[in-house]
Amino acid sequence: MSTYTPPQWNNKYVSWFDKRLPAITLMHKHLIVYPTPRNINYWWCFGVASAMALVIMLLTGIFLAMYYVADTRLAFDSVERIMRDVNYGWLLRYLHMNGASLFFILVYIHMFRGLYFGSFKAPREVLWWIGVTILFLMIMTAFMGYVLPWGNMSFWGATVITSLATAIPGIGQPLVEWIWGAHSVDQPTLNRFFAWHYLFPIIIAALAFVHMWALHEVKSGNPLGIDIKGPRDTIPFHPYHTVKDLYFLTIVLIFFSYFVFFSPNFFAEADNYVPANPLLTPPHIVPEWYFLPFYAILRAVDSKLGGVLLMLASILVLYIMPYLDRSPVRSGSFRPLFRWAFWIFVADCLFLGWLGAQLAEEPYITLIRIATVIYFAYFFVVLPLLNKYEKPDPLPDSISEPVTSRA
Ligand code: HEM
Repeated sequence: MSTYTPPQWNNKYVSWFDKRLPAITLMHKHLIVYPTPRNINYWWCFGVASAMALVIMLLTGIFLAMYYVADTRLAFDSVERIMRDVNYGWLLRYLHMNGASLFFILVYIHMFRGLYFGSFKAPREVLWWIGVTILFLMIMTAFMGYVLPWGNMSFWGATVITSLATAIPGIGQPLVEWIWGAHSVDQPTLNRFFAWHYLFPIIIAALAFVHMWALHEVKSGNPLGIDIKGPRDTIPFHPYHTVKDLYFLTIVLIFFSYFVFFSPNFFAEADNYVPANPLLTPPHIVPEWYFLPFYAILRAVDSKLGGVLLMLASILVLYIMPYLDRSPVRSGSFRPLFRWAFWIFVADCLFLGWLGAQLAEEPYITLIRIATVIYFAYFFVVLPLLNKYEKPDPLPDSISEPVTSRA
């Protein structure tokens, strides 16, 4: 499908190198001339912004690891030492702490963009599946990272969440002790969480490259959700998207800087500034905000195993999106009924997030149950019904048509 012809490099060193390893041609093909639909809007900037957040997390994480001590007796103090004594340690830590929230905000918006514009539909299924896998790994990484400062919420969060595995009949208890490496969350747990917290982001970074590979194979979607029909429908990545992305990244960095410099503990939990104490359970164990909708779903049913399965299902269902939403029209902009369903679904996810932070008592439990039913009904009832009965609006003939027809 590609009609790319590599250029002749004028510089003899560049040319020499590129003949032996065509890295410069590769970058030219994928970062300069790569054809992008000419109508893509700012919703398509969240991917590159997620990549920026990933780089911030990797860099600050590597420097934090130089000072952090994964020992239950020293971990909490080593983090305090980073904050007080290490040069710019406070900055490294606040960038990393708030960077996690930034990463999740950007990736969630990136995903919802995909759900609205049907980015998971053919031919982008594999791209989508890689994305869902990245999300899953991000959740694991963030969970383990939160344990490292060895605050009281770290300890109890780790205890509550890992203990969920005990719900699995038969193998539950041995499995959870295998994860802990002990009979409770303890030194071996901290060691292995540190090792995995270092390993997983490297896998995420590798998957982000595979994500890009898949994207460049099938090309970007666009707000109209129709295919590229010819050169009139595309523009080269550079300078159009490089400039637009840089502008967007600047705005994101300004937003991020506000939290890092002026409200660094906005997303933090006071209980995590108290050292871990196995004898003192915090009155209200809440996870980080980005886990709250899943945490709510976990509490939707009385059975522990049922809650765990529902929570897993709430993420795994994303894998089968290409088979649930089978409408031939990709973009929500041409699907009047879908639009309603989609925004109700978004509101429901936000509501679940709010409910996840409330105490496990009435009326919240009933509300969680209703919101969980709506969550799953969106996937298993509403989308299949829309496939059957919705009459989409007519689509334009091509990406350039809505613009050229006005001239
Ligand atoms: C480390 C996290 C991620 C990074 C760095 C990343 C990066 C990107 C980039 C740069 C693009 C192209 C620009 C854009 O469309 O915004 C993209 C496209 C896409 N991403 Fe991601 N992504 C990540 C996570 C995810 C997740 C969690 C999902 C879904 C569950 C996902 C699904 C997609 C899809 C479907 C597209 C194609 C959209 C289209 O062209 O219509 N990505 N991603």
